[in-house]
Amino acid sequence: MRIGILTGGGDAPGLNAAIRAVVRPALASGDTVIGIRNGWAGLTGSGDFFEIERRAVSGIIQLGGTMLGSSRVNPRKVEGGLELVRSNLESASIDALVAIGGDDTLGVAAWLGEAGVPVVGVPKTMDNDLSVTEYCIGFDSAVHIVTEALDRLHTTAASHHRVMVVEVMGRDTGWVAVEGGLAGGADFIAIPEFPATLEAVMQHLERRRSGGRDFSIIVVAEGVDLAGVAETPVRTDAFGHAQLSRRGVGERLADLIEQETGNETRATVLGHTQRGGSPTAFDRIWATRVGAYAYDLIRRQEWGRMGVVRCGTVETAAISDVVAEQRRVPRELYDLAATFF
Ligand code: F6P
Repeated sequence: MRIGILTGGGDAPGLNAAIRAVVRPALASGDTVIGIRNGWAGLTGSGDFFEIERRAVSGIIQLGGTMLGSSRVNPRKVEGGLELVRSNLESASIDALVAIGGDDTLGVAAWLGEAGVPVVGVPKTMDNDLSVTEYCIGFDSAVHIVTEALDRLHTTAASHHRVMVVEVMGRDTGWVAVEGGLAGGADFIAIPEFPATLEAVMQHLERRRSGGRDFSIIVVAEGVDLAGVAETPVRTDAFGHAQLSRRGVGERLADLIEQETGNETRATVLGHTQRGGSPTAFDRIWATRVGAYAYDLIRRQEWGRMGVVRCGTVETAAISDVVAEQRRVPRELYDLAATFF
């Protein structure tokens, strides 16, 4: 069998571990694996493929990024996209396709599956907002990076008696902010799920000052709706997502805090550092498990499905169910984080 594999959307630590987990057992069983470069771009142009040999996946489990490259190309927005994907798969004699990605990439996979393309999925997004699965490749590494950044910012904030505003990614959900903030001991966390007012932030900072705490760390999710703090940007990608980092919510909030309270305030935007570098051990292990599961699904010819993590084990789910809705931070998790503000 000839298996095509691609990674789409934002890269994330753990993608290489998942690719390796598909390639190794496939080659051991006598199958051929074809790498498709740069996500759906590799299937919507003239076809951008290469055969993945065993040694190409040696020494990559610890590497961030993706050896296949990625893009935010959306075949649904490309004229004749479905036919292009089909003909490229045919020309490379690909019998089965593995799509590793978040809601955008997997949304395309579900669409192709409905059109009869033999496809399986693997969950990846540092935003951690896919339904059904409790694990997405890259989230643990992102939380780890945010936690370490907060540890470092604590010492400098304390030395200078400053307010530090830390902007983190996560698109329309606050998973990275709430888990990173909880682990890093944030003094306030603002996320899209439970919008706070600017007044609430100021009052909280004032309470801390009058309680003798002369520095504060505020974690703000890039997509938070803090009334009046940042405008929604106009620039969007091929999947219709606004580029939220351009709102500058962290910088803007820091300015307002300094103006209103007179406290010295600095903003740090963690940005793409949250997606770079080596995956955590947790991401390596679970990326391996969901990657290997994708190959199992191919062996069983269970098209349109993917491995999801539930209660500590990998289970099967329809790709269409995983992308049906966005998983959002539950109230109890946010309230738990807030008890430490
Ligand atoms: O979806 C992952 C993510 O990192 C989001 O958290 C963020 O909003 C977006 O991608 C950034 O996209 P880009 O890499 O295109 O700037």
